[in-house]
Amino acid sequence: MALKDRLNEGRLSAQHSDRGSVAHWRKRLLSEINLDDLAMLSMEQRRIRLEKVVGHLLSREGPVLSDRERANMIRRVVDEALGLGVLEPLLADESITEIMVNGPDNIFIERNGRVQRIETTFASEEQLYQTIDRIVSTVNRRVDESSPMVDARLPTGERVNVIIPPLSLSGPIVTIRRFPKPFTIEQLISMGSLDEATGILLASMIRARFNVIISGGTGTGKTTFLNALSAFVPSHERIITIEDSAELQLQQEHVLRLEARPPNIEGQGAVTIRDLVRNSLRMRPDRIIVGEVRGAETLDMLQAMNTGHDGSLATVHANSADDAVHRLLTLASMSEVKIPFEALRDQINAAIDVIVHLSRYPDGSRRVAEVSVVASRRHEEFRLEPLLRFHADRYEAQRRVTGEFHHFPLPRHIAERLYTAGESIPATFGIRRPADHGSPFSGGAL
Ligand SMILES: Nc1ncnc2c1ncn2[C@@H]1O[C@H](COP(=O)(O)OP(=O)(O)OP(=O)(O)O)[C@@H](O)[C@H]1O
Ligand SMILES: [Mg+2]
Repeated sequence: MALKDRLNEGRLSAQHSDRGSVAHWRKRLLSEINLDDLAMLSMEQRRIRLEKVVGHLLSREGPVLSDRERANMIRRVVDEALGLGVLEPLLADESITEIMVNGPDNIFIERNGRVQRIETTFASEEQLYQTIDRIVSTVNRRVDESSPMVDARLPTGERVNVIIPPLSLSGPIVTIRRFPKPFTIEQLISMGSLDEATGILLASMIRARFNVIISGGTGTGKTTFLNALSAFVPSHERIITIEDSAELQLQQEHVLRLEARPPNIEGQGAVTIRDLVRNSLRMRPDRIIVGEVRGAETLDMLQAMNTGHDGSLATVHANSADDAVHRLLTLASMSEVKIPFEALRDQINAAIDVIVHLSRYPDGSRRVAEVSVVASRRHEEFRLEPLLRFHADRYEAQRRVTGEFHHFPLPRHIAERLYTAGESIPATFGIRRPADHGSPFSGGAL
């Protein structure tokens, strides 16, 4: 079969199954029924009730269908709605950002940044296993003793991780992360995640092709922030995004999205982030955006940044801005190409311009805790200079976290780069006063 036909085969069968409209009716169904009532019914009664409701909805609002098509549609909508059992109402609730199933009797959710246990449980461990099977079979994987850990994605985009005994000692564990809602920088500012001046400065830096790393712990909002910053990449540029599971939603016209692939059941066919970074260099990118660097791809990314692909963006898991540069060093050294430590450090000094560090606070809020520039030059030890720090007020349990963003003047070489690119600098930052004077940039605020 020709390549085109082979590729089309999958696409056609997806189209044929008419997912869009099944999803539509499933959504309508969930908005129509009372989920609490439904929980009282047995599986069989539930199905009958749902079939009735979908039937009514189709008669009232649906297209004209033959009897067979209609029966078919009802069956598929109900299958989908019952598909993930007790998880369905949780998935339908938009205010829930994470669902954590720790065995059949123990479900936690995250809402407004806070984790809480809920009453809902699975009827039995077997029912939980059935749900797991349904989830992973959509990505052609299976979970059993020989492959007890799987990453999958629901058709609606949610990321799912499953791990079962014997690796898990707490029964089958399912973690579902809602597809992150895109926020604009303006929205993040109004939520208090950063202040306006910092938003303006970061936007200037993106336009001026600074290489920016976003660091933070798990779930601190790195991907969300990267997505917001990416809006400032000029729309005429050719952007390549590389991710483990595609979450970024860039608005520009010329965006190419690449997604890594885990190995299949036989352990074959994996395509790593690193493979994709290398491949992307042959695709004439103006910018490369890596969802998260976790390993050897860090070296390829640094090399790309140092060989004319500046303006690149990535996130890294780290506990502070300072930790982030050291973490990049460790990750870059994981490559099989053995490069002396000093040479890697020089590459980081030359490549990385700015680190934006995010933190999650006890009240569930996420914030820019620090913005620092990498001020060290080639053969120097790492030296970061802060541009912004958030100082939290003393907080008490359950209270909203308040505090202040403190700004620091920009090092001169950074200010000069911004001016050369035609960008201005918000007055609240100012520019570091040089030891010598007489420069057009002396005098601080502009
Ligand atoms: N500034 C913010 N304020 C409030 N909620 C936020 C903020 N940024 C992100 N979130 C929410 O926090 C959750 C995690 O966000 P996101 O996926 O961006 O984090 P992450 O650091 O990339 O996570 P991971 O470590 O899993 O990659 C999402 O539900 C997202 O909507
Ligand atoms: Mg992320």
